[in-house]
Amino acid sequence: MIERPRGTRDMFPEEMEKRRSVENTLRDVVENFGYGEIMTPSFEHTRLFMEKSGPNIVDEIYAFEDKGGRKIALRPEFTASVMRMYHEGMRERPKPVKLYYFGSVFRYERPQSGRYREFWHFGTELIGPDTPMADAENIALAHECLRKLGLDDFELRLSNLRILSTFLQEKGVPENKMTEIFHQIDKGDLDKLGEYEFGIELLNLLQGEKMEDHLENKEPVEYLYEVLRLLEHYGISPDDYRVDLRTVRGLDYYQGMVFEIDSGSLGAEKQICGGGDYKLGSIFGTDVSAKGFAFGFDRVVLALGEAGGSVPQKRSCYVIPIGEETRESSLRILRSLRDEGITADIDLMERGVGKALSYAHKTGFTTALMLGENEMNRKEVGVKDLISGEQCMVPEDELVAFFKCGT
Ligand code: HAM
Repeated sequence: MIERPRGTRDMFPEEMEKRRSVENTLRDVVENFGYGEIMTPSFEHTRLFMEKSGPNIVDEIYAFEDKGGRKIALRPEFTASVMRMYHEGMRERPKPVKLYYFGSVFRYERPQSGRYREFWHFGTELIGPDTPMADAENIALAHECLRKLGLDDFELRLSNLRILSTFLQEKGVPENKMTEIFHQIDKGDLDKLGEYEFGIELLNLLQGEKMEDHLENKEPVEYLYEVLRLLEHYGISPDDYRVDLRTVRGLDYYQGMVFEIDSGSLGAEKQICGGGDYKLGSIFGTDVSAKGFAFGFDRVVLALGEAGGSVPQKRSCYVIPIGEETRESSLRILRSLRDEGITADIDLMERGVGKALSYAHKTGFTTALMLGENEMNRKEVGVKDLISGEQCMVPEDELVAFFKCGT
């Protein structure tokens, strides 16, 4: 038996129905905020991902040489691709450029519950503005998505990376050391920070109280407060988030406001969203600002559990021809229903009525249409409501109207 590769999943129709409903809600929200959908290739030149994150990124992604000897990688996220796309074809567009995407991404990770090698990102990028208004809109959009999905057990943590970078600059820490410290904070290795002479002060700063007291240049703290004030006008109050300077984000391109969202109902892999302010333009010779985020779509669906994506039951009918002679008339009825947009299916197994009805029941059909020879001769159809069990005869030429008035 050939099994699916590690870290991948098969998705059954029930799962897909739920995912589609979550996806549609997210689409509605981001389009309501003025974002337009894009798509980028599933694979890119490996260089695109190495340029900012360094050569070690190759260990974490699906990178290979194609038959033409090109170094190619499956996308581990969309942000770098979107910036490439923007610089290749959208630079002349009026700013801000507001884009969203939904697609699968690939990372060579150790799989566990909620952590996959193929998973889906639903994300946005807001290209152009470098203002507190744009940061507020970016964070508010992610929050609004979860609100509209009906998810309320989550925690939004946010920070301005410039607070930490300004502090470290003022302490004379060189750039490469700064990156190392950021990585230590990201991994939660706070003990190691005590080794620096400014370690205690850094730990106090990370507590988040009186942040401005630790900085000569107060601008980054004021910027953060301005974003928080603006969030109030999006209906996001201090109860809805936590300022946490330890939120530094693993990816190397962030530089200003950053945020992460954790779900309260998930286990170890509980982060459902991450994003913030970043610059990737330098790879393409510009310094364009951008802000965005991506939901780990699969984790959002997991976090919603049974609550998410309850799909209204469709009025759908299952046509059961009784005997060979009624097959052609049954197909005619089936087509007339489908042509009118009524979800309809027919027994393809040539089963008896009992077994066909049992199948219709088990697979969620709401109505069965039974056509025997007598009914056919009278131009009538036996209609059985599979929920109430009620049964009646309906003239064939009134069937469509019968279903339409019931929907
Ligand atoms: P990220 O935090 O690396 O950010 O990924 C976004 C989300 O993807 C995470 O918060 C998490 O929910 C989900 N995720 C990450 N790894 C896995 C995995 N192995 N299995 C399942 N879900 C996973 C980014 O990728 C940035 N591009 C976000 C962004 C957009 N920043 C600016 N614009």
